[in-house]
Amino acid sequence: MDRFTIEGGTPLSGSIAASGSKNSVLALMAATLLTDETMTLSNVPRVRDVETMASILDHLGLRTGWESPDTLTVEGGEPTRIEAPYDLVRTMRASFMVLGPLLARSGHARVSLPGGCAIGARPVDQHLKGMEALGAKVELEGGYVEARTDRLRGGRVVFDLPTVNGTQNVLMAACLAEGETSIENAAMEPEVQELIAVLRTMGARIEKSGPDSLCVQGVTRLSGLRHFMAGDRIEAGTLLCAGAVTRGEVEVTGVNPQHMVSVTGKLSEIGFDVRVNDDSISLRPGDVARGVRVKTAPFPGFPTDMQAQIMTLLTQTEGVSAVTETIFENRYMHVPELCRMGAEIEIDGRTAIISGPTRLSGAPVMATDLRASASLVLAGLAATGVTHVRRVYHIDRGYERIESKLERLGGRILREAE
Ligand code: EPZ
Repeated sequence: MDRFTIEGGTPLSGSIAASGSKNSVLALMAATLLTDETMTLSNVPRVRDVETMASILDHLGLRTGWESPDTLTVEGGEPTRIEAPYDLVRTMRASFMVLGPLLARSGHARVSLPGGCAIGARPVDQHLKGMEALGAKVELEGGYVEARTDRLRGGRVVFDLPTVNGTQNVLMAACLAEGETSIENAAMEPEVQELIAVLRTMGARIEKSGPDSLCVQGVTRLSGLRHFMAGDRIEAGTLLCAGAVTRGEVEVTGVNPQHMVSVTGKLSEIGFDVRVNDDSISLRPGDVARGVRVKTAPFPGFPTDMQAQIMTLLTQTEGVSAVTETIFENRYMHVPELCRMGAEIEIDGRTAIISGPTRLSGAPVMATDLRASASLVLAGLAATGVTHVRRVYHIDRGYERIESKLERLGGRILREAE
């Protein structure tokens, strides 16, 4: 296992390009099951989750390959298997998104239930409710979902909550269902919007019938395409927080600022000077950096995937801040580790109260999920002394060579075998 050794105290400065969106590309990779033709995705981040999804597609009988370091090709075709095995699904829950496309193409799918993860139980009941609304017969057996249908038929899906992958899963199934499907209380995250745009280019007939509802007219086939991935809004937010927490001057390019209004707005509210251009965002310190209230919410609200990172920043701002996590029930694993470094954070129910500024001192720390790990790297950059962040495989799941990006910005960070 690798660890990062970080020597804190250096203000970051410079410009860095964000990689393509990890969460968006996972949904688009599932969408390759919907067509017999080749899909070519460029600006794809070489992260572990993408490798895992590629091996699942290979397992299902598609042929994945790399045309260039950041360009993934998936040769479509009839899936030769309909089962996504437990040992792959458990490592990356997004693989559950092959359920809808497999049902739509083969009328049969056997996908392992993803199980919970560090940040919460994360059930998939909404995904299954959607598939049943499209006429699938769904059974749970031995930790697997067994779903069958002669032909998916359009129906009405009303989600109890705006699930991102649930919306993507059901949307992909509905594109090849017979007739019209309405999806209500749908998630509208940028990753959902990118999937809608790609499916439309492939020939799907999808209309927005309301601020959070979609109307799909099923078609009989979809074509392949070439697509350039949008930049990763969460990686961009993480890199901006790295600049902010070290009181440096950082520009992040290759990202759409419209995907990050709640994050850039919150950084401005704290007191940073944030400027946006067409595909870049720059940040520099303001006169003060004040504590604020943050409440995570579905898009366009403040993203839960940025909660741990902004909490690290709030340990360095003047006064008391409050962070409320409304999406997942256990997404504060970074808090005890931040406190070991000197942060003053108290958790009261779903809200964390942060008093700042506190002097962080380097320490050996470890996290158990992707974004908590990223928040510890930010803390190491701000701390005095040396921080060892262990088990960086969590970070490698969703950030492409984050240590080289931070080094290019002047961060003193080294990857070492532990
Ligand atoms: C996606 O997960 C992202 N992952 C997550 O990013 C992100 O945190 C999350 O959306 C919320 O924005 C990918 O896109 C691969 P949800 P997803 O379904 O779709 C509950 C990261 O760090 N729920 O929108 O699985 C669920 O328990 C990852 O990059 C049900 O109850 O999230 C959660 O409390 C972490 N039943 C809430 O909804 C369901 O059937 C939101 O989950 C589905 C979800």
